[in-house]
Amino acid sequence: MKGIVLAGGLGSRLYPLTHATNKHLLPIYDQPMIYYPIATLVNAGIDHIMVVTGGPHAGHFLRVLRDGKHLGVRHLEYTYQENEGGIAEALSLCEDFADGDDICVILGDNTTDADIRPAVESFTGGALLFLAKVPDPHRFGCPRFDPNDPTRILRIEEKPREPASNYAVTGLYIYDARVFDYIARLEPSDRGELEITDVNNFYLEDGLLRWVELEGFWTDAGTFESLHRANRYWAERRGWRAQPVEDTSSVVRKA
Ligand code: G1P
Repeated sequence: MKGIVLAGGLGSRLYPLTHATNKHLLPIYDQPMIYYPIATLVNAGIDHIMVVTGGPHAGHFLRVLRDGKHLGVRHLEYTYQENEGGIAEALSLCEDFADGDDICVILGDNTTDADIRPAVESFTGGALLFLAKVPDPHRFGCPRFDPNDPTRILRIEEKPREPASNYAVTGLYIYDARVFDYIARLEPSDRGELEITDVNNFYLEDGLLRWVELEGFWTDAGTFESLHRANRYWAERRGWRAQPVEDTSSVVRKA
């Protein structure tokens, strides 16, 4: 299986932080954000990886990722997405790289400590989604389950105003080579993008979609709140202990 990290976009939800570099190079504690999704793939045994980037700071990735060897990547490729055409359009740029193989796709702002190796090794085709329970499902792709069979997804709704469940479709997906045929059938959504949720619904309609719950911590990091959450989690995991700011800095208050 090959790996694809999607790391394009303008990161406009994080302006002004992303005026000077790409969102996926911002720090999460002691590492650039993109190290985390790469580690998820490498830890699952996937070491042929394509990074899709875009926007004005795409060149910065070379200095950070180089040839990827220091991160356990055996073969690293890059490509450039010209416009903000959406996740599915970014993925369409990887058809030659995939060359008929199964692919594990991860959004460059998703961080997780889950071990996806068992899912990767037991993948037998179609699409596999990783779901996570979240307090704010309206921010994500959100599955609507069959009331008579709560393991069966009826449809995935992208950023629904009234979410039908408390699950998010995380930005971690495994697809077979059919994904590129489905992408070719997509029409731009209301926000003018080719939506990965539409691809997932095509798989669903054809009875080819399975899901598992991601075990462990997961968050995206594309907003100030989620970026902060990711920083806190990974700092604590690496042994940093939160202390009241006033104990660790000089804070002078007026009497
Ligand atoms: C994207 C997808 C959404 C998914 C999310 C996971 O949203 O469109 O379905 O749940 O990633 O991070 P974005 O936050 O990029 O708009």
